Amino acid sequence: MKIIAYSIRDDEKGYLDKWAKENGVEVKAVQDLLTKDTVDLARGYDGVVVYQQKPYTAEVIDKLGSFGIKAMSLRNVGVDNIDFEAIKRNGIKVTNVPAYSPDAIAELAATQLMRLLRRTNTFDRKIANGDLRWAPDIADELDQLTVGVIATGRIGRAALKIYQGFGAKVIAYDIYPNPELEKEGIYVDTLDELYAQADVISLHSPATVENEHMLNDDAFSKMKDGVWIINPARGILVDTDALIRALNSGKVAGAALDVYEDEVGVFDNDFGSFEAIPDERLKNLIKRENVLLTPHIAFYTKTAVKNMVQFSLTSNVNLIKNGTDENEVTF
Ligand code: COI
Repeated sequence: MKIIAYSIRDDEKGYLDKWAKENGVEVKAVQDLLTKDTVDLARGYDGVVVYQQKPYTAEVIDKLGSFGIKAMSLRNVGVDNIDFEAIKRNGIKVTNVPAYSPDAIAELAATQLMRLLRRTNTFDRKIANGDLRWAPDIADELDQLTVGVIATGRIGRAALKIYQGFGAKVIAYDIYPNPELEKEGIYVDTLDELYAQADVISLHSPATVENEHMLNDDAFSKMKDGVWIINPARGILVDTDALIRALNSGKVAGAALDVYEDEVGVFDNDFGSFEAIPDERLKNLIKRENVLLTPHIAFYTKTAVKNMVQFSLTSNVNLIKNGTDENEVTF
């Protein structure tokens, strides 16, 4: 059995090699993304293991199909960049890693929320300029606030527990409520109710066709004045122009964004200077003291990266051997 793993980074390689040795499977690691220019590398392999934000196009998937490849395992959770129709017509099975580390995402969400509430960005900037005064940057306490968690999958639930640990009142909305959480009585029936009650909105939903730009002008208008927005989920959930308007008006007190709707090709790149970042709207956000922008790093922990590599390889072997795996994605 032979597997090819695309876009393997240096920080993944050690986990990959260890797994290959322990499991006696030949794994070819390449640094390239899976594109029309690199798909030929997969010829002769039984399965592909992949991670990228750029699309897995129909052209590429058809080629994999023509090589007889039936097993494709993503090292991440999101499946929004796959051409599902091409996957189906080629009879390819796809797995993802739905729980590489929900805590990794939840911990960054909570960290950034606390930083916003305690105005650490403002104090860092003041201190760098020799300004050691307190006023006017008085903080809010999380234990006095209501946090509205949107989507209560594994990550949403992990975030919710942390917020509760800080003493916040947590309310939640999900189209598929979690039975255990239902017993706690934390669900509201509509997003509008959540918007009306929440001091903090924490987004943990996958991207779907239905929820593109769910936080738009209309949604912001239904929120409390001075609401805080936390998005470690998907950039497309937030209409960035609407967010900028809401930040300008003070409707939104601040935002922690680990994702951005135009991040592909920008995040995880070194442009050499702030000025050289090729996205004016992104720079507009980064410049603000009340916006904490991180380049999609919530997943980037040792635990998560190890699990992403090793769980995806195990799933790929299961697909190759048995044609099925517990993490198979249904399209
Ligand atoms: C995902 O797992 O879908 C993520 O968003 C993390 C990715 C950047 C590796």
